[in-house]
Amino acid sequence: MCGIVGYVGNNNAKDVIIDGLKRLEYRGYDSAGIAVIRDGKLQVRKHVGGIENLEALIGTDKLESHIGIGHTRWATHGAPSDVNAHPHTDQSGEIAIVHNGIIENYQELRQELIENYGVSFRSETDTEVIAQLIGVIYKEKKDLLDAVYGALEKMRGAYAIAAIAADEPDKIVAVRKDAPLIAGLGKGSNFIASDIPALLKYVKEIYLIENNEVVLVTADAVKIFDEQRNEVKRDVFHVTWDADAAEKEGYEHFMLKEIYEQPKGLADTLGRRLSPEGKIDLEGIALRKEEIEKLSKIYIVACGTAYHAGLVGKYVIEKLVKIPVEVDVASEFRYREPLIDENTLFVAISQSGETLDTLAALREAKAKGARVLSVVNVVGSSVARESDDVFYTWAGPEIAVASTKAYTTQLMCMYMLALYMGLEKGTIDRAYYDRFIADLKAVPDKLTEFLKDTEHIERLACRLYNKEQVFFIGRGLDAAVSYEGSLKLKEISYINSFAIAAGELKHGTIALMEPGTLVIALACQDFLYEKMVSNVQEIKARGAYVLAVAKEGNEAVGEQSDEIIYIPKIRDEIAPLLSVVPLQLFAYFVARERGCNIDKPKNLAKSVTVE
Ligand code: M6R
Repeated sequence: MCGIVGYVGNNNAKDVIIDGLKRLEYRGYDSAGIAVIRDGKLQVRKHVGGIENLEALIGTDKLESHIGIGHTRWATHGAPSDVNAHPHTDQSGEIAIVHNGIIENYQELRQELIENYGVSFRSETDTEVIAQLIGVIYKEKKDLLDAVYGALEKMRGAYAIAAIAADEPDKIVAVRKDAPLIAGLGKGSNFIASDIPALLKYVKEIYLIENNEVVLVTADAVKIFDEQRNEVKRDVFHVTWDADAAEKEGYEHFMLKEIYEQPKGLADTLGRRLSPEGKIDLEGIALRKEEIEKLSKIYIVACGTAYHAGLVGKYVIEKLVKIPVEVDVASEFRYREPLIDENTLFVAISQSGETLDTLAALREAKAKGARVLSVVNVVGSSVARESDDVFYTWAGPEIAVASTKAYTTQLMCMYMLALYMGLEKGTIDRAYYDRFIADLKAVPDKLTEFLKDTEHIERLACRLYNKEQVFFIGRGLDAAVSYEGSLKLKEISYINSFAIAAGELKHGTIALMEPGTLVIALACQDFLYEKMVSNVQEIKARGAYVLAVAKEGNEAVGEQSDEIIYIPKIRDEIAPLLSVVPLQLFAYFVARERGCNIDKPKNLAKSVTVE
């Protein structure tokens, strides 16, 4: 998705902005650009493709300036091209803006600007409409802050915008409406950005900008104003990550680094809320016994990988807490008429906390009276801020587009939530709870051990990387993990992969089994193991090439399969914490073998802030 970086201060703006944009590259983008003010004039450079193209375009020009804005664009209105790239300027060339999000009434505004002000447009973007609109108002007001406020009255949509004016070379004016925006507080330098990692190298103290707020950034101050232009006081937010956490630290790709960070993420997520006596502490989350007892239904709503974590959540919450749980993808949930009342708990799961569909579903549920609990990784993100309660995953920054450690830490939160509610409600007893907690505590070490030797998976990937299609099958929780394994493979290797509950195969999909068809079969649920062995036999009988994943000691499925990967022995309910890892690694090694852009797969973005 698009990224914004703005800087005003003592250093050369171009260098700070390019560095910040590089740190946002992981979000996915197709063009990049920068605008600075030099000698009272705007200098705009933009180019389709990666930041290296932009750097090549700038060449040896230092673009010496103390103020500027930059952008990485992920095309929505108009194809990726030099002309559609941001920043966009107004007709007079005095205003430049960058923009994330969508202006819904841009066609109408565009027409008005053409008819009433004779504006001629260069690009197909909704963003140029904002630049032209601010430009027209600026002519009259001669004040950038006034002009931005004037434009806000006319625009509809979800956006974050940063603007500069050649005649006011000391300020950036930025605005947030339903798209993330932060301001970084430096010494003699201040910043604006769409995401924290862009600024981590420079600042740890930030202001989280709220919806409908306008920010005036100069080298000495950051002022925040509300819709009525009253100045707003904001607490400083201290970022606890360091810049290194967002670097590769010797790994070839962020994805691989993040796979290896899972033991730590799991230990941290568990450790943050587990007392030495083994009691889960949901401090700050209003889920007392009486409230849990009143709950008649739980919705878990999320997108992509987070949705897959929700599928596991449903299974364990229903099993341990005996409350019906519905899991839905946010883009569907928000457009149906879910049955929600004050006895409904709505759980939103999101790594970024900025996924627009999840946010919209959350708002819908809240408006209908549900209590909203979110499971989020990015502290201070929109989902976290709009929820009644937040259960943070402690995965640390996840940079690769393909989600790995966010998924396993989300699962950890699901288990803890289920255990906590089950014990409070009395649907599980203390002995069961204690054994479960002990098993959860053992996972980080088991995973560390497993990750010590991944050569077998790498070898398999090197042999199987050129398959045109792959099927993932499993039963119960293994089916949920199959969906995640399949998504991982398709998003980074571009192989057509498909996941299905193994029992469903013979209702249609088995028709696709041919000699050599690659099927990855998960058999990590002891109570469904024999059924799974039968499913494997059925597809083997049709010639499929089966790679099974099973717990150590369960050899029967290995005997029926062509290849086998063993995971450490583990309780069925929490097997997904381990069984997903070989699937993540398989996807990774296959994608590497195919020469894919693993951390930034084509057409995808890390944080999907558009519908
Ligand atoms: O930030 P979120 O967890 O809300 O993101 C949800 C999905 O966009 C995300 O999980 C996506 O499916 C990943 N690319 C999967 O690897």
